[in-house]
Amino acid sequence: MADKTISKVDFSKYFQPPSLKDARRRRREAVQIINDFSIPEDMQHVGKGKKYLIETYGCQMNEHDTEVMAGILEEMGYQETSEPIDADVILLNTCAIRENAENKVFGHIGTLKMLKLEKPGLILGVCGCMAQEEVVINKILAKHPQVDLIFGTHNIHRLPQLLKEALFGKEMVVEVWSKEGDIVENLPQSRRGHFQAWVNIMYGCDKFCTYCIVPYTRGKERSRHPEEIIQEVRDLARKGYKEITLLGQNVNAYGKDLPNMENYGLGNLMDEMRTIGIPRVRFTTSHPKDFDDHLIEVLGKGGNLCEHIHLPVQSGSSEILKIMGRGYTRERYLSLFHKIKDTVPNASFTTDIIVGFPNETDEQFEETMSLVRECQFDGGFTFIYSPRAGTPAARMTDNVPMEVKKERLQRLNKLMDELSAKSNTKYQDKIVEVLVEGESRKNAEVLSGHTRTNKVVNFSGPKSLIGQLVKVKVTNTKKWSLDGELQEAEVFNQ
Ligand code: SAH
Ligand code: SF4
Ligand code: F3S
Repeated sequence: MADKTISKVDFSKYFQPPSLKDARRRRREAVQIINDFSIPEDMQHVGKGKKYLIETYGCQMNEHDTEVMAGILEEMGYQETSEPIDADVILLNTCAIRENAENKVFGHIGTLKMLKLEKPGLILGVCGCMAQEEVVINKILAKHPQVDLIFGTHNIHRLPQLLKEALFGKEMVVEVWSKEGDIVENLPQSRRGHFQAWVNIMYGCDKFCTYCIVPYTRGKERSRHPEEIIQEVRDLARKGYKEITLLGQNVNAYGKDLPNMENYGLGNLMDEMRTIGIPRVRFTTSHPKDFDDHLIEVLGKGGNLCEHIHLPVQSGSSEILKIMGRGYTRERYLSLFHKIKDTVPNASFTTDIIVGFPNETDEQFEETMSLVRECQFDGGFTFIYSPRAGTPAARMTDNVPMEVKKERLQRLNKLMDELSAKSNTKYQDKIVEVLVEGESRKNAEVLSGHTRTNKVVNFSGPKSLIGQLVKVKVTNTKKWSLDGELQEAEVFNQ
């Protein structure tokens, strides 16, 4: 094993300990746009004949960051592999949202110790949101000396330099900036999909919901300039992409921070997307507080804007929402929900819900159940509250036993299943447009894709349809998917 030990960490040079407290500070410094990314000459061919593997945990933001890191590594000559034993560089792009997400990563770091013993030249890196937490860094420093490299979410564009230090230095390399955040344009990207693509429209989050770690790990809200986004989407359209998803932790705050563009928001951006020749445009994640009328009006125009809204509610109790710091009440959520539903025909709705927030009473939980019944969600993600060190909620005392939380989650999940099955029955015998994404996970003979409303559809057809938009008639509806028969292929010719 390479002799990279904790005692050899050159703290002054590499290690700026990340601090959640510093990360919380928002000084409203102007956002720096960095445009001059390049790979140092001596690193341009370092990956020739070598392989990399990136394991991605967490949300779409991380998936997309992985595409950027893959792009950087490929520009340095590395090729991708799915086999850890073949890899010369393994990066774990981690998620800090809940404790179980972190435990999974630590489990994996543990198993990679063996590989590192077999292959001492292997560079093992940890990046993503966990790398922004001081407790995580301290744990890696204390217990996992097999890790060569730790870098944060603000340091991705420094990967070539950091890899160089890890390859040619002897110390564990740690570079994590606790900063408000810049925007780095023109980074290479190695997109995983050939017809679906992620496009970041903004970074960070300023909402500071009391349970959530994201504003600390991702920095402040900062929007990319619309011109940059439009250019990227146009380029994807030219390359034949069929679906793009605009990404941000709170996309409805898009534009608020753009200098000299006071009234430019997500509604304006989506209106511009309608004029681009790409068949499907989605966006995620919405925050109910910033969802404005202009956006609703634009979504109502349809066209290539898909009628699926992911609108996390978190709780149906106004008291809990207040302690969560969500900035809306049950009534305001419901009125927004109905407004969107009335304006966007046939829209499907999904949500996120946290059960067992500190001191949540039975009555408050029942309010969540009744809100879910009223909204009849098509689906959603449900979680048991997980305390995150450094957040205000983690300091609250909690009188709800874990057994009660688990029981609430089970009841909620049962209701969500019923509602999903019910919403699917509406599709019986209907003809829907499906973007064919690949073979079904369960049966390679069957093709699978999503409707504009984000329902999974399985049907038989030739593999040549993968990547195409087709018409499918729904013949059977299930709890979480639809079965259908192919009607006609290729709806759009661009
Ligand atoms: N920005 C998005 C959510 C990002 S995190 C939004 O505001 O909706 C995805 C989901 O994880 C959240 O919607 C929330 O339901 C859940 N989540 C976040 N922090 C959590 C925590 N500490 N415990 C349990 N669930 C959490
Ligand atoms: Fe977390 Fe709230 Fe920001 Fe979503 S809006 S990322 S839940 S702080
Ligand atoms: Fe996880 Fe970070 Fe996304 S905490 S959910 S990977 S922003």
